[in-house]
Amino acid sequence: PLLSRLSARFDLRPEGPGATALRELTGGLAALAGIEPALTIKAGAPAIALGSPEAAQAALAQMDAQALAPEGFRLRFGTANSRKASPAEAESSGGADAAAEPYAVLLGGSDVGLLHAVFAFLRLFQLSEAGPPAELDRTEAPRSALRMIDQWDNMDGSVERGYSGGSIFYRNGRVLSDSPRIADYARLLASVGLNAICVNNVNVHREETKLIAADRLPDVARLAQIFGGFGIRLFLSVNYAAPIELGGLHTADPLDEDVKAWWRRTAEEIYAAIPDFGGFVVKADSENRPGPFSYGRDHADGANLLADALAPFGGLVLWRCFVYDCHQDWRDRSTDRARAAYDHFRPLDGRFRANVVLQIKNGPMDFQTREPVSPLFGAMPRTNQMMEFQIAQEYTGQQRDVCFLVPQWKQALDFDTRLAGPGSTVSRIAAGEVHRFAYSGVVAVSNIGDDDNWTGHHLAQANLYGFGRLAWNPEASAEEIAAEWSALTFGTGSAAATFVRRLLLQSWPVYESYTAPLAVGWMVQPHYHYAVDVDGYEYSKWGTYHFADRNGVGVDRTLATGTGYTGQYAPENRDRYESLADCPDELLLFFHHVPYTHRLQSGKTVIQHIYDSRFEGAAAVEAWIEEWRGLENEVDAERFAHISDRLQGQAENARQWRDVVNTYFYRKSGIADEQGRLIYD
Ligand code: GCU
Repeated sequence: PLLSRLSARFDLRPEGPGATALRELTGGLAALAGIEPALTIKAGAPAIALGSPEAAQAALAQMDAQALAPEGFRLRFGTANSRKASPAEAESSGGADAAAEPYAVLLGGSDVGLLHAVFAFLRLFQLSEAGPPAELDRTEAPRSALRMIDQWDNMDGSVERGYSGGSIFYRNGRVLSDSPRIADYARLLASVGLNAICVNNVNVHREETKLIAADRLPDVARLAQIFGGFGIRLFLSVNYAAPIELGGLHTADPLDEDVKAWWRRTAEEIYAAIPDFGGFVVKADSENRPGPFSYGRDHADGANLLADALAPFGGLVLWRCFVYDCHQDWRDRSTDRARAAYDHFRPLDGRFRANVVLQIKNGPMDFQTREPVSPLFGAMPRTNQMMEFQIAQEYTGQQRDVCFLVPQWKQALDFDTRLAGPGSTVSRIAAGEVHRFAYSGVVAVSNIGDDDNWTGHHLAQANLYGFGRLAWNPEASAEEIAAEWSALTFGTGSAAATFVRRLLLQSWPVYESYTAPLAVGWMVQPHYHYAVDVDGYEYSKWGTYHFADRNGVGVDRTLATGTGYTGQYAPENRDRYESLADCPDELLLFFHHVPYTHRLQSGKTVIQHIYDSRFEGAAAVEAWIEEWRGLENEVDAERFAHISDRLQGQAENARQWRDVVNTYFYRKSGIADEQGRLIYD
């Protein structure tokens, strides 16, 4: 009875998020329950009522839409005795009212809020075998304003750091704006609460530079319309040298009047075509990309140029802080790449326009398996900031190995920077609760491509799902998110869901345990970043060294004897990292160079930890394979075979890592494994 009648109110624009909400709900009910409710649709403040109309109306009348955040919603389920039972009914039910009717009300803070309410409703429906609970009153609002995805897609159809096929957005220099895959993607992102997307690679090459040119804008506008229908704003990455490459000017100097006029005109053209355009993502003076440094200007000058052009239209500049010397000399022991973002940006606090947001990678290096949280995050109270994660598993198994990253992100979000006293966590900073940011939030590099299963490894979907859920609510636990995704994907209560949930939660620690130890990082094949190559980056220009010698390993980043990086943290964190005794084991080699015989807090020596965890990691993958084999009859053949296949590949990768890392450190240190296991010498 709950699902037989549905009345909806929204703004009635056929491509608007209200219409999407209704479509998603009716489509979802048909798919999940085979039900087609009788519909009443009218224009008005966003709400959907199911079940008993009188009871729903009564409930709705008591609910205050004004109290909701624009993207937020309230769900109320209940039962009401909407009519008295007839004497005959009363008799047959022993005198009680026989007509308790269920109702459900979905109220949105806006049409977009209503869409999020629908997805929450469908999730509840799918997660419980018995349908949604009879009684519920839940209000939700996203924690951060910006919850964004960055595509690193190129117009030739390739995806930088893409591990799941080609781009769904582009092929052979064309925008695939009519591809149904794009609308499906918008739907996927909205269903987990995301609200912004940048649709081209941060490295903006020749063709992509033209995306802001008049003849390309209609294509971009079509994309913006598709995403807009799901409450998602569209951004573009721009080339800082566009005034030269596109505008024919001789300079891109941010203080040049012609350059300013060019960007102003360009912004006008963009907003004429795309009124709700989000703004620009900019990678400038980073890894050989052009930027303000060429003209003797700094990043504030650079960002403000674009911010001024976009400001009249409400557009944002998301300026990336991934700025470091990528032509470093390994002989130079004073330069430390980890310090770079803070050293470049922190002195500029207060100089950025109100519509600039600094986009800061979660760690100071580059999306390694384990890094401390970037000390820049929260260290600029007068500058908007957002944190950048990488869902694409560039350094974490490339969607060939399972590595569920939600626990890693969660740890970063929970980190207490102490920058404005205790409780200055990353998630509170990202939500603008510590410093009063006009705009802030989280963004992540996408992991999808045109593979049938979207993410290469089927289980890598959990990372995209989990990022969205965590961006919406950073209080959610990794366990909850893993359980939710596993149940939605393999069936609530199924044996496969139970196993996959556990596998996901073990996977980051397991991946870490067979790859680079104790946060020293890298040790991967240069450029590709998947397979083991312990010295791959050791003498390179990228500033990514581990300094292993016959006595010890690790990077001394202390104030006392090292690069001084620890000094970029608030005193409590600085002191903890500075002290060899207090530094957490899992970050030890990031902060200290220690002898192989140094004893960890765990009680093991560093060398024994290296051996033990490599053996344990590789063995854990073998154990997963065994368990998965036992689920053959529980999962459809295609997914069963696919996951088996990936796990086999992972086992091989783990063995190779184990043996190369163990042999490397055995040869360096000459110290044998206490347990006498096989280490090749
Ligand atoms: C990493 C990655 C690059 C990417 C860069 C960035 O270095 O390997 O492919 O362009 O990050 O975030 O800009």
